[in-house]
Amino acid sequence: MDHYCVMGNPVEHSKSPWIHARFAALTGEPVAYGKRLIPLDGFATGVREFVAEGGKGCNITVPFKFQAASLVSRRSARAALADACNILSFEGETIIGDNTDGIGFVMDIERNAEVLLAGRDLLLLGAGGAAAGVLGPILERRPRRVVVANRTVAKAKALVERHAMLAQVGGVELQAVALDGVTGQFDVVANATASSLSGSDVPVDARVLTPGALACDMMYGPAAAGFLKWAREHGAVGRDGLGMLVEQAAEAFALWRGVRPPSAQVLGELRAEMAK
Ligand code: ATR
Repeated sequence: MDHYCVMGNPVEHSKSPWIHARFAALTGEPVAYGKRLIPLDGFATGVREFVAEGGKGCNITVPFKFQAASLVSRRSARAALADACNILSFEGETIIGDNTDGIGFVMDIERNAEVLLAGRDLLLLGAGGAAAGVLGPILERRPRRVVVANRTVAKAKALVERHAMLAQVGGVELQAVALDGVTGQFDVVANATASSLSGSDVPVDARVLTPGALACDMMYGPAAAGFLKWAREHGAVGRDGLGMLVEQAAEAFALWRGVRPPSAQVLGELRAEMAK
């Protein structure tokens, strides 16, 4: 068996062990996948211990994705752009970092929700870690226009500046604004803010939605409920972050094992499991 795990704090309710166990069973790969609660001040030690035990790689979740990006010996271009890693792979003592959150988000929208981003107008709410992880892969799909709106507009501006070249190469109009400065309507609205965790309302006016827009939250379960209700009430199609979670895991599994697991099947199974 090759050993992997998810590291986070908290990590108790992580669905990653369940998802990777299904991927392993369906592909026949000899993968054992656990979870590790890492002390808030002990991330580097936690990773090094797992490397010393012979672990092959791990997923990184809240709040360690930024620390992971500075701990690694090498990182992919997309992890460098996001300045965050959700995947580590170990080659001997060498720790390689990657970020599959963005491609997971894009895969879920394009394959599972069947909305192609090319030529569309997309509004990204938030400019923290979750938003940073997805902006690069979104731009690579060449939408027409991407607006990043954040409570702290300076953070949105910094994120947009870091991605300006990528947007220019793809011919994408990319802009940073304050939450109350959003103009126009959008085919896709992606919520990468943590506003629902503090019980706040959706931090943008519903007029940003085109009729039938796809409104995605990057959270799932109770944390996404408020956003999905808002989407429904304003004529949009709501989508939670469960598909993104499964798709980022599938990308990680493919990177580690060289085998692509049947992610849409596992997403269906996970939804059924959570509805029990
Ligand atoms: P994550 O890694 O989950 O993205 P984060 O890096 O702390 O977490 O980012 C949280 C995001 O949610 C930020 O964009 C934050 O806005 P600020 O940059 O202004 O802090 C946003 N956010 C959190 N609470 C919010 C609220 N009540 N209303 C609007 N935006 C909120």
